Amino acid sequence: MSAAALSRNLPRLAAGAGALLALTVVGFVVAQNATVTKDVVYVPTPQEVVDAMLEMGAVGPGDRVLDLGSGDGRIVISAAKRGAQAVGIEIDPELVEQSRANAKEAGVEDLAEIRQANIFETDLSQADVITMYLLPSLNMKLRPKLLELKPGTRVVTHAFAMEDWKPDRQQDSVGREIYLWIVPARVAGVWNLERDGQQIRLTLRQQFQEVGGTASIDDLKIPVEDATLRGNVLRFALRIDGQLQSFEARVEEDRLQLDPPWRATRAAIAALH
Ligand SMILES: C[S@@+](CC[C@H](N)C(=O)[O-])C[C@H]1O[C@@H](n2cnc3c(N)ncnc32)[C@H](O)[C@@H]1O
Repeated sequence: MSAAALSRNLPRLAAGAGALLALTVVGFVVAQNATVTKDVVYVPTPQEVVDAMLEMGAVGPGDRVLDLGSGDGRIVISAAKRGAQAVGIEIDPELVEQSRANAKEAGVEDLAEIRQANIFETDLSQADVITMYLLPSLNMKLRPKLLELKPGTRVVTHAFAMEDWKPDRQQDSVGREIYLWIVPARVAGVWNLERDGQQIRLTLRQQFQEVGGTASIDDLKIPVEDATLRGNVLRFALRIDGQLQSFEARVEEDRLQLDPPWRATRAAIAALH
């Protein structure tokens, strides 16, 4: 779309994903004038959508929330109002100044911190919840880093998804699409289970949070049934001696903390997707 056509169409495009994608062109110019290289221009998330995102991420007291590209600070401020310790990462110095003033005016400057920094040079590892209203390509650029975060970290985005990493939840909020992912533990590979002399060799494959596989019991190979993975909680069932037995496991580095209490150790690790 040409610049003239873009400016003619801006009001119509000013809702949802189309706006942000189109505005990228304008943002490049603005960014050059301001001598900061932005990866995406500033378009605020409507307050109703901010509230829905924080609700979706179950943000509450004690959570550490990180908004990547924090604009005027509205997500950070709203998270702080819910009792979370919230940090905004923003590259634009004017927006940094404005959002700090907004946090002060909202009376949450103790819980709301704005850092002038580049999201791609930011350590994400301390966050419990990450929020983003960026672009599809930026989501994908961040995806490998997000998948390295501790299992159970919630990632909430406005408007854009992450290709073949399917969201754990997706919903509409006043005409905007919002998405939630729970960072999955790495369970793919081989696990040895043992209890009262009985042994099971569990071979799991994993496509992000989607898990399947087989279990070998003596010479018998049976499918892993009803497997779900949410953060580091793995549930599955095995049909043993004709009876479907359910298992719930907390995934630790090289162990499964299983209920019922089988001893379970990792024999081999495989790729997450
Ligand atoms: C679409 S806005 C979203 C603002 C806010 N998160 C919201 O939802 O209302 C994206 C923001 O990211 C900032 N930004 C762009 N590239 C950045 C980068 N590399 N590092 C940090 N912030 C960046 C922009 O200045 C802009 O404020």
